[in-house]
Formats: sequence, structure tokens, C-alpha cells
Amino acid sequence: MQYGFFDDARREYVITTPRTPLPWINYLGSESFFALCSNTAGGYAFYRDARLRRLTRYRYNNAPLDQEGFHLYIRDGGCVWNPGWQPVQTELDAYSCRHGLGYTVIRGEKNGLAVTQELFVPQGDDCLLMRVSLRNDSGAVKTTDLFPYLEFCLWDAMDDGSNFQRNYSIGEVEIDGAAIYHKTEYRERRDHYAVFWSNRKPLAFDTAREAFLGLYGSPARPEAVFGAGCTGSVAHGWQPIAAQQHRLTLAPGAEERLIFGLGYLENAREEKWEAPGVINKQKARAMLARYADNAAFDAALAALGQHWETLLGVYRLRSGEEKLDRMVNIWNQYQCMVTFNMSRSASYFESGMGRGMGFRDSCQDLLGFVHMIPERARERILDIAATQFPDGSAYHQYQPLTKKGNLAVGSGFNDDPLWLIAGTDAYLRETGDWSILDEIVDFDNDPTLAQPLLEHLRRSFGFTRTHLGPHGLPLIGRADWNDCLNLNCFSEHPGESFQITGPSEGPVAESVFIAGMFVKYGRAWADICRHLGLADEAAEAERAVAAMEKAVLTSGWDGAWFRRAYDAFGRVVGGRECEEGQIFIEPQGMCVMAGIGKESGEAALALQSVEDRLETKYGIVLLQPAYTRYRLELGEISSYPPGYKENAGIFCHNNPWIVCAETELGHGERAFALYRRTAPAYLEDISEIHRTEPYVYSQMIAGKDAPSFGEAKNSWLTGTAAWTFLSISQAILGIKPTLDGLQVDPCVPSFLRRFTVTRRYRGAEYEITVENPDGAEHGVSEIRLDGRALSGNILPVLEKGARAQVQVRMG
Ligand code: GLC
Ligand code: GLC
Repeated sequence: MQYGFFDDARREYVITTPRTPLPWINYLGSESFFALCSNTAGGYAFYRDARLRRLTRYRYNNAPLDQEGFHLYIRDGGCVWNPGWQPVQTELDAYSCRHGLGYTVIRGEKNGLAVTQELFVPQGDDCLLMRVSLRNDSGAVKTTDLFPYLEFCLWDAMDDGSNFQRNYSIGEVEIDGAAIYHKTEYRERRDHYAVFWSNRKPLAFDTAREAFLGLYGSPARPEAVFGAGCTGSVAHGWQPIAAQQHRLTLAPGAEERLIFGLGYLENAREEKWEAPGVINKQKARAMLARYADNAAFDAALAALGQHWETLLGVYRLRSGEEKLDRMVNIWNQYQCMVTFNMSRSASYFESGMGRGMGFRDSCQDLLGFVHMIPERARERILDIAATQFPDGSAYHQYQPLTKKGNLAVGSGFNDDPLWLIAGTDAYLRETGDWSILDEIVDFDNDPTLAQPLLEHLRRSFGFTRTHLGPHGLPLIGRADWNDCLNLNCFSEHPGESFQITGPSEGPVAESVFIAGMFVKYGRAWADICRHLGLADEAAEAERAVAAMEKAVLTSGWDGAWFRRAYDAFGRVVGGRECEEGQIFIEPQGMCVMAGIGKESGEAALALQSVEDRLETKYGIVLLQPAYTRYRLELGEISSYPPGYKENAGIFCHNNPWIVCAETELGHGERAFALYRRTAPAYLEDISEIHRTEPYVYSQMIAGKDAPSFGEAKNSWLTGTAAWTFLSISQAILGIKPTLDGLQVDPCVPSFLRRFTVTRRYRGAEYEITVENPDGAEHGVSEIRLDGRALSGNILPVLEKGARAQVQVRMG
């Protein structure tokens, strides 16, 4: 069943009922000011860091669901309603929500009044804009009251949700004409404030929640809206809000538009005040003036559209397969931008308080983002590298506002260091900007320990190479990619962290997965060394990689698939002798992507085992058989009920590893079949089962052991975005950046007889048309660049601004 449809020409998903199976959200902003906005105008805003600089409140896990946000109340005659249906839930005569790239348009109609709410964050500015258009389609004059409402957060979301004894006394606002300023803590150590404004003077306002909602009122029944209107309240402590009341009289056919905004501004310490206790509002006034009228609003919205047009122009596919084009050209890349910005911090499943930027997560997000804005990828790589420890290990997470490593979680996740090589390698292949390796970057955020980035990569590789266990495989530490496989933890008490209880480093527990990574990214490291003329170092790295490959094929091979790990007692995890958890997806994907056992046959066997044992109609589950009881020696993985999350859920993130692995063996048919199984656009008509947004990937779909098989959770913030984009754009369609140029190596299903990819790469544009008359799965017989035959399949790097036509023949 569908709850809307894709409008590809406008790059929008159009939701046609407010009663979606879950709130379906969008992200507004892609630089420093962000807002989450659901299809019923729920959500919240923050500046850079969802935990430390939260602008508006949101109550997760609330009932009723999704009540806080950017709501508008319409009072027309005796009827109160919201264009997005929530929170009052008055039935509408018509409803739609268009989620587009960085903007959302919600439209509701009731009793001949049509109200449209357009929301976006303009490029280069720290505010959320909301334009409200009202049109009187009835035959009579209407006098209508309009109330925008939002609730401020007292900046630090964690503290805001827990430290009530202080917070109920500190809330402060200022009212200045049509603007409401939120200035809690500005009197002391904060040099920032928020402002909510409208471009027309309201009839009345409220800034105290109790006055607007009523002490026992709710967003679904605000006293001011249902009663006598706004009261002019000034918040002193308790809960500061911004609410206004506007009165409009509309003749039949008449339309009115109002612009609202929510801005974030900082003042230098010496310039904080314009009079004692009064905020210096100069910057806010300038912001208000920038969006004072419809022309300015339209221009900013058009600039946002142009920005996305440019970004999505870097990789564009025409395949004739509608759903595929839609995923590749629009939604998958859009999600890559969002994961790049948010890491795993703020979604409707991530509270924005739990984690900052993940080291491994952000490095992987780069893989799907680097082609869009390489300069931002470059900055991110340097930020991440600065949280690395001198021995090559790394903080697992850091806060985006401070860019400092997160002490509470610490280090010891032994896959982290190698992901830095993966991310940097992707950057080098995309840009050819070798100067990044010369950048001087802190270790442990300590400038006295700074070294060139190249040295960071060297230590990443070195850390893994020097932390091997009894079988010559890498020690796993607290966990590898699978945060829930905690082999050194042994947590017995509720509430303890599964990851950071126990030693960070056991001398025995080893990871076959990290071994696969070491082979794959160790080769990348060797290539980088060779490019830099470090031939000895490259050769030495290759020797270490070869030794690791051998260790995997001896101690990491189970007979028909790759083992997962050895536990702290040296026992196999993910082997046929295991009672449960006999086979895991991760080492099959990573080891085959690394090419391990490709010649000798293990790789093909491993993928066959995935098909036989892990595949389901909704995707590949993480392991089988699921763990049915808690196992102290395995940790969090066995804490989940069977079929959920890492315990045999369909963890979407590593499905594309198998897709890539299949292409490694030339299996185009199979690769595409797996690709489409989890691609959201292909799941649109089972939205009632899948439940999350049909335009983005979710982290997890319940596996076959779960009662809710097929139900997705944790939409948006998942490494799935980057990896699926890699799997389709590079592995299947075969347009791969290398250190030397753009490689063309498609591995496709036989129905794809012809497709064209337009790729901007290092300043030139290649229009690559692949012809596959005989339906070959893999192999290129001829490549012509502007008519000239090329030897090999790597397109040369062209001059900036050049355009080339590339004809490719498969078979
Ligand atoms: C989550 C984490 C990611 C981890 C994965 C598997 O998605 O963000 O870092 O690799 O779970 O545990
Ligand atoms: C991953 C897992 C989650 C775990 C967390 C800890 O996100 O999916 O279950 O609690 O990592 O870092």
C-alpha cells in the first residue's frame, strides 16, 4: 500500500495522507542550521549540534506522537485546524505534504480555506523560514486567525530534559515588535540567542507556554486558540515559547502570504548588549530584513534549488528504469548528504543527545558524499583525524560543536583506524588532491602532537598490524563494525554499557571482519604509498596484507563461509560448530570485497552460503541462526530479541557489501537483484509493512525470526546510504574513481542493455554511454573517448572544463 507518490520532475515525495504508518520526515538545512520536519509539521531545530545547541524542544517517545514542531493553528469560524492535521487532528478536506530537497511544503484545506506552509533553511544563513499562504476559495468573506507556535529548548537538550530544578527559573525572552527573542542564559555565559519573527505585526503574542496552552492544555488543545486568543504573556522561567496571533480578512478568491522565521545568532562578548539587559539585535534585524518579502523568500528558495541541481549534476544516470534512476539521481544522494551532516545524531530514532559524530560512521559517510562537495569532505577528514590517538587508535565519537573526542565512550573499537584510510582514499581518488596528506593534524586534539595526515594513515595501518591475536588476526577490542559483538565486555548488570564495561583490549578475541578490512584498505594504503614514491613502505604493507590474507584463509575460513571472530576464550564465533550464530554477513561481504579467496574459490562459496542461509525476501539478515538467549561472552548482540537489530535483523548497511562482493565476482544479475531488494523506491507499495519513509534507507528491517518481519526502523541515519550509493554507482554501473582517473567497469543485470552516466570528475564532464547488446554481466570489450579507442578501462583525467563523450561496449 502507498501513502503518496514520487514526483521525480520536482524531486519530491508527495504524501497524500497525514496518517502515514510513522511520521515521515525531511531534513531542512545542510550547512550549520538544521531542522527535522515531519509530514505533519512536527520536528525541531538546532544549530550545528543537536545536543549542545538545540533551539526547539522535541519529546521523543511521546504519546500522542510527534506533537512538537512548527505548527500553525487556523481558527476559521468555529473550526480550529492545522494544515498538517497535527496536533489538533481536525479532519481536512484536502491534505498533501511535499518533501523536497531541503524543503517541505504542507498544504491543507478546510471549509474553502487553503493554507500552505513552505519551510526551508536558506543557503548560507542560520535560520528556518516558513511562509504561510492562505487562500479563500469559498464564496464568502472570511475572517481567520492564524497562530504559529513553537517551544524553545534551553540550548543543551540533555540538561533541558533533566535539570528542571534550575531550568524552571532561568527562561528569559524579549519581545520587540513582531519578533520574540529567546535569551535564556544570555545574561551569563552564552553569546547566542534565537529569534522567532514574522514579517507582519501580530495582533497578539504569547511567550509563556502555560499562558498559550493552559497548564493542563496541550498542543492538541491550546487554550489561547480555543479560547480568547493570545494573552501577551512574557516568560519568566518555566517554558519560554513563541506564539503569535494574526488576524486576516480575506475576500472570496483573495490570497495572503506571511513569512515567519526562526533564527540563531551570535554576538561577540563586547557587543552583547544594546542597553543593560537588552540584547544587541543588530544581526537579527539584518536577518529579518533579508527575508522581508516574497521576492526575497522566492529568491532564497530558488538558490537552494540551484544548489541541489549542481550537486546532483555530478553523477546522473539515465537507465530507463524509473525506480533506479530515482534512487540514484535523487534520493540516495540526498540521504548521503543528510548522513554526512548528521552522522547518527538526530533523527526520529536518534534523539540528538546520544551520540555525536561517529569515527567509523563519518568515515563511511564520506564514501557516498565526497563527489558532491569534496572541500567539505576534506575538512571532515581532518576533523576526524584530529581525534585519533598517537598510537593510531581513535576516539569512537566526537561532538560536532567542539570537535573534541567523546571521553564517555573513549576508544578501543578496533575497526575505527582503518576507516580513516577508507575515507581518505575515497577523497584522493575523487579529487587527486594529494596536498591533503601534507596537512598538519593534531593527535588527540593536542596541537603539540600534530603530524601530517599521511602519518595518521600510517599509524592507522600500523595499529591494526601490531594488534594481532593468537591466529594472526586483528584483535577486536570493544567491538568492530558490529558495535554489539562485545567479546571482551562480559556485562552482567543492567544499565551498564555493553561496549565500555570490561577491558578495551583483550589479548585473545579476534575479528575476521577487521582482517578483511585490513586486506582491502591495506592495499589502498600500499597504493597511496606507491603513488608517493614510498616503494619500500608499499612493499612492506603488501607483505603484511598477504600474511593477513593467509591468516583469513586458514583460521578465518570455516569450510563454506568466512568465520566471524574468535571470542575471549579462543572459541570460534560464526562457525558451523556454534549452536547459534553459525554464519554472519559481515566477513562474507568484507572479505570478498577485499578479493580474498577470489582465485581459490572461497569467495564464491561464501556468497553462495549467504544466498542459502541468510537471504530473505526483504534482504539479507545479519546472522543465522538468531541468538535465543543472552550470552555473556558475546554481549549486546545476544541481548536483542531474535530478528531485531544486530541479532539477525536485516541490517541494511551490510547488504550493499554483498552487492559489491557479487560484482567482485562478476555476478551482475545477482548484484542487482540484491540491490533492489532493500532499495526504498522498490518497497513503496509495501509501505504498510515497511512503515518508514519510502524515499530513504533505514538502518534495520526486522528479520525473518521477528514477529514483525519486514518492518523497518531507524530511518535516515545509516551507513546504508553511502554504501548503497557506492554499490550502485561504482560496483554495478561501474563508474569508479581511481587514483589515476575514472574507471569504467560495469557489472550489470542483463535487462540493462544501455545506460548513460554523466559524471563530473576533477573538473571535467564525461558522458558515458554503455551499450550491452548481448546482455553480458561483466566485461568491457571497447571504450572510445571522443571517438578514439582507449586501451584499458581508465578514462584519463581531462582539463578542467573539458567535456568528453565516452562510448563503452560490454561483452
Ligand atoms: C550502527 C552504528 C554503526 C555500527 C552499526 C552496527 O549503525 O552507527 O557504527 O557499525 O550500528 O553495529
Ligand atoms: C549501534 C547499535 C546499537 C548500540 C550502539 C552502541 O548503534 O546498533 O544497538 O547500542 O551501536 O554504540
